[in-house]
Amino acid sequence: LRRAGVLVPTLCEHPGLEGVGSCRLCLVEVNTGRRSQLVASCLYPVEGELTVLTDSPRVNEARRFVLTLLLARYSDVQLIEELARRYGVKPVERLQAEPADCLLCLRCVRACAAQGNGAIATCLRGREKRVSPPFDEPPADCVGCGACAEVCPLGAIKVEEGEGKRRIWGREFTLVHCQSCGEPFATREQFDYLRKQPPDLLVEEELCPRCRKLDQALRISGSTT
Ligand code: SF4
Ligand code: FES
Repeated sequence: LRRAGVLVPTLCEHPGLEGVGSCRLCLVEVNTGRRSQLVASCLYPVEGELTVLTDSPRVNEARRFVLTLLLARYSDVQLIEELARRYGVKPVERLQAEPADCLLCLRCVRACAAQGNGAIATCLRGREKRVSPPFDEPPADCVGCGACAEVCPLGAIKVEEGEGKRRIWGREFTLVHCQSCGEPFATREQFDYLRKQPPDLLVEEELCPRCRKLDQALRISGSTT
């Protein structure tokens, strides 16, 4: 749908992570010829002949309903406000709930797990459910990469940087400066972690992504001349 330029709002989906289909914002109407149903487009496998309606009355009604519930809990979150405005959803007084800043979309937990770490997870249940490091203590498994904060759609994870340090989840990490341009771009613990991985992930030079690309391009052009 994205490749075709069709706009479908999403929150829990991230192109680099396995889908979980938790926010239900990406509902579309799929017609397989035998039946028509509302499905979460981020999880629906595209196969055979399908008609997909992304803007039908049924889809818009379902989307507005999801946004009404989201707006009740996340009325202070800019992204939710913008989505609600786009779909003409107004706050419903009797639905007002205690404000929250985390959607429990688990993008952060999935990003951490995808890198082989398990520094954060969900804890507690029901309305108390939230994302945190084990026992709410600074997580020993965290390497300070900041991927969790990077993928959070609501900006709910706080990362502070200054004086050569990065602070996240109650821990402080030393920033590594790019050997070429001098910009701080990763943490010492990230490099220590990568150096313990299989040889194909071996990182010798401490170069930021921009300088690494440039370095690779120069090597390729050097080897072809
Ligand atoms: S902190 Fe952000 S990414 Fe993690 S579950 Fe909450 S909203 Fe999703
Ligand atoms: S994007 Fe959240 S269910 Fe599909």
